[in-house]
Amino acid sequence: MLRKTVLFLALVTQALMLENGLLRTPPMGWLAWERFRCNIDCDQDPKNCISEQLFMEMADRLAQDGWRDLGYVYLNIDDCWIGGRDASGRLIADPQRFPHGIAFLADYAHSLGLKLGIYEDMGKMTCMGYPGTTLDKVELDAETFAEWKVDMLKLDGCYSTDAERAEGYPKMAAALNATGRPIAFSCSWPAYEGGLPPKVNYTLMAKTCNLWRNYDDIQDSWKSVVSIVDWFVKYQDILQPAAGPGHWNDPDMLIIGNFGLSFEESRAQMALWTILAAPLFMSTDLRTISPQNMDILQNPLMIKINQDPLGIPGLRIFKSESQIEVYKRHLSNEASALVFFSRRTDMPHHFHSSLLDLKYPRSRIYEGQNVFTGDIISGLKSESSFSVVINPSGVVMWYLYPIKSQGLSSQMSRL
Ligand SMILES: *[C@@H]1O[C@H](CO)[C@@H](O)[C@H](O)[C@H]1NC(C)=O
Ligand SMILES: *[C@@H]1O[C@H](CO)[C@@H](O)[C@H](O)[C@H]1NC(C)=O
Repeated sequence: MLRKTVLFLALVTQALMLENGLLRTPPMGWLAWERFRCNIDCDQDPKNCISEQLFMEMADRLAQDGWRDLGYVYLNIDDCWIGGRDASGRLIADPQRFPHGIAFLADYAHSLGLKLGIYEDMGKMTCMGYPGTTLDKVELDAETFAEWKVDMLKLDGCYSTDAERAEGYPKMAAALNATGRPIAFSCSWPAYEGGLPPKVNYTLMAKTCNLWRNYDDIQDSWKSVVSIVDWFVKYQDILQPAAGPGHWNDPDMLIIGNFGLSFEESRAQMALWTILAAPLFMSTDLRTISPQNMDILQNPLMIKINQDPLGIPGLRIFKSESQIEVYKRHLSNEASALVFFSRRTDMPHHFHSSLLDLKYPRSRIYEGQNVFTGDIISGLKSESSFSVVINPSGVVMWYLYPIKSQGLSSQMSRL
């Protein structure tokens, strides 16, 4: 009887928008995968293997080093945590590497004001070969995650057919809802269907998932970052309208703090992800991250822009022969963010433009701030020309808002 009620509710909720009220702004936190992968060798590499200890140490860093207070609250497990299923079919964590189980880790995260995310796969196995969530296990696994007090589920898509994913992802959304626990739902579904219509229906995505991976996994290189940016820009007319409060495109993790990016490239990834209204999931070793990389990731104005309540992703609005691109994101209270991005490989480039050229309204005066340097911008008229100096594979980023007249100035609209 109870089971029938649950199933009925599940069917009803499948027909509605995903209205779990979660992630009105893009999620921020830490995700293990890009940096720590499927390192399960705790004998050889006890500090870096996928284990309870690794997540507890990252939780401590998130709580103590300023991350949590800036909004980086998700502590997210990825693949390789599963030990198997017990006699009743319930998932269990690897008993050696997670001796106290996932519920313990969730309690630990909550005690520090963090949220815990977990990983499974809609299919026979996870991408690394651990037991997956087959269609008959969807409800059981959702109930298990809710019992453990998990706050987010990333559901990957390895080892399944198109048809299984088409049934499984909405089924999981309904099953999570039926648990009664608010659990944000991150879907890898579109990435497995090529990320584009007609195979991917982004209206359906927004009804099913809070965020979704559209494209390839990020790797620890600038080449990988650029390939992701290229793809999101090429299809921006499709992807930009797909995202908004409660439902986000996910170009994958931030690799800032690892090995593949220079200082300029690290700033560029941060700025471009912010313009895209992307989730900010760091995947780096927070125990050893440099102050310079912390500054990039902990820039309060950057985070304010990423977390703008309107949740409108930006667009590339300009591309020059000289390999300079301009990205623009509309923000609340008529504010906006601009990113000037250089794909050049020679030397710092002087780029000349005006706000009018960048599609701002005529006859207005703007002020704001350079997001990285903190330099104040004031009295900038739409028609006036300006120039910025952009380093190779680097960015200049501006936060701007109009002032009504020259009389009313910064006091009226403090950052
Ligand atoms: C389940 O869905 C309903 C209807 O969309 C919504 O009101 C409710 O908040 C959801 N509950 C959870 C736990 O997601
Ligand atoms: C996409 O999904 C929505 C919501 O489920 C549906 O109403 C719409 O018809 C679908 N569009 C296409 C082209 O299949």
